[in-house]
Amino acid sequence: MSGSRPAAVMILAAGEGRRMKSRTPKVLHSLCGRSMLGHALAASRELDPERLVVVVGHGRDEVSAEVGRQAPEARVVVQEQQLGTGHAVRMVTEALGVLDGTVVVTYADMPLLRGETLRELTFRHRAAGNAVTVLTAQGDPAGYGRIVRDAAGEFQRIVEEGDATPAELAIDEYNSGCYAFDGALLADAIKRVTTDNTQNQEYLTDVVEIVRRDGHPIGTMLAADAAEIQGINDRVQLAAARRALNDRILDRLMRDGVTINDPATTWVDVTVTIGQDAEIGPQTQLQGKTAIGSGARVGPGCLLEDTTIGDDAVVLNAVCRQAEIGPGATVGPFAYLRPGARVERGAHVGTYVELKNSVIGAGAKVPHLTYVGDAHIGERSNIGAGTIFANYDGVAKHHTTVGHDAFIGSDTVLVAPLTVGDGAYTAAGSAITEDVPPGALGIARGRQHNSGGWVERNRAGTRSAQAAAAATRARAQAQHAHTDDPAE
Ligand code: UD1
Ligand code: CA
Repeated sequence: MSGSRPAAVMILAAGEGRRMKSRTPKVLHSLCGRSMLGHALAASRELDPERLVVVVGHGRDEVSAEVGRQAPEARVVVQEQQLGTGHAVRMVTEALGVLDGTVVVTYADMPLLRGETLRELTFRHRAAGNAVTVLTAQGDPAGYGRIVRDAAGEFQRIVEEGDATPAELAIDEYNSGCYAFDGALLADAIKRVTTDNTQNQEYLTDVVEIVRRDGHPIGTMLAADAAEIQGINDRVQLAAARRALNDRILDRLMRDGVTINDPATTWVDVTVTIGQDAEIGPQTQLQGKTAIGSGARVGPGCLLEDTTIGDDAVVLNAVCRQAEIGPGATVGPFAYLRPGARVERGAHVGTYVELKNSVIGAGAKVPHLTYVGDAHIGERSNIGAGTIFANYDGVAKHHTTVGHDAFIGSDTVLVAPLTVGDGAYTAAGSAITEDVPPGALGIARGRQHNSGGWVERNRAGTRSAQAAAAATRARAQAQHAHTDDPAE
């Protein structure tokens, strides 16, 4: 389909979308990691048009900002009042002048429409030498404009539901709202559209009839999948479209060699990449720029956002945001990796562990109940259960370095800024506030003192006192037996 670069693609996005019942403009609601408008822009970009134009009206500042983020090359045209689809297109032809070549019109609220379908529409339009080619669908036509044909099956016109006769209402071929136009004929016909209809609007659909009456050839293309042209009007339809788009993404991944154990509870954004032989467990959401290496196992129960997972890594029940997990590393169950967390090759981060802006060196282990913030842990070091990297003094954040092959005893508090040297140890329960040199044992805790008989004196009559008394008796008896035994 080369050589079919259209002169322009126009995306209509000025409508209010009242049925969403939302403060957010309809076309900014998102599915699978992209706004509806973002999906429309992505599909339109596949045509590589000379100009990409978005008509905005309701929520124009927010909508224009999204256009700027998703397609900075696109031109925004404001439609002050929403006086109909024809009026919207007229605003563009008035702003940009006559566009020679093929002009494609589509909507911002059809997120399932594939770029491929638009490409085929453009191709067929060119190949047939049509003045207009209408993308149609067949099925339940409720709410859509009907495609009226003559006895010979030739296209006559599009009639809106509110303007249709009972016979026309019974037609099951309907208008998608996507068209390929000859730009010059469109610019001329759009000026001749009237508001003579039940909605008192300028209908873009009328352009098709005007061009036909002028004697130009009109074509239609039946969409292979009617679901693609489903417009989203409310959040029920949005959820259904999200499900459908997610299924499409999962199908593609499975065909590319990814195992998805439970497609019904796995949600993957369009922007995510997953390598061959990776296995995705149930209840998992993969979002944004997440990239998963081949042979990795992710899930059940993972939420990954903009996170990189190396080959053969294993991640269970974890929430990871802007984190990096190296090849062969293991994370979870129940870990929270915040931005800047990097777990290097073969390292292990275990249960109830939170990492932030920290590096866990290759082969190091942080197995249980630990917070690591603003730290660098060297290769093969072991961080004992319950260790806290105290990085915040109430005003500023400070950094901790733990060397390689170090051993941090359980329940250590490492008060930053701090350096624990290579091969150093800390004693369990220490609050370490000063550097520990390489190979030293840092101990920072009170010495243990046992106050004998304290329970008997202070807790007389309790179960503890009874247990203590029994233990004392047993010990005395054992000693007695020992001294009585001549054989020893
Ligand atoms: C339109 C078509 C109908 C088709 C249906 C497909 C017309 C007259 N009717 O009907 O034949 O079956 O789409 O979904 O074209 N918009 C603007 N400015 C406006 C009006 C609309 O930008 O002044 C945008 C809306 O934001 C929306 C799109 O155009 O993205 C369609 O508008 P909508 O009012 O939903 O058209 P329908 O009545 O559904
Ligand atoms: Ca609509």
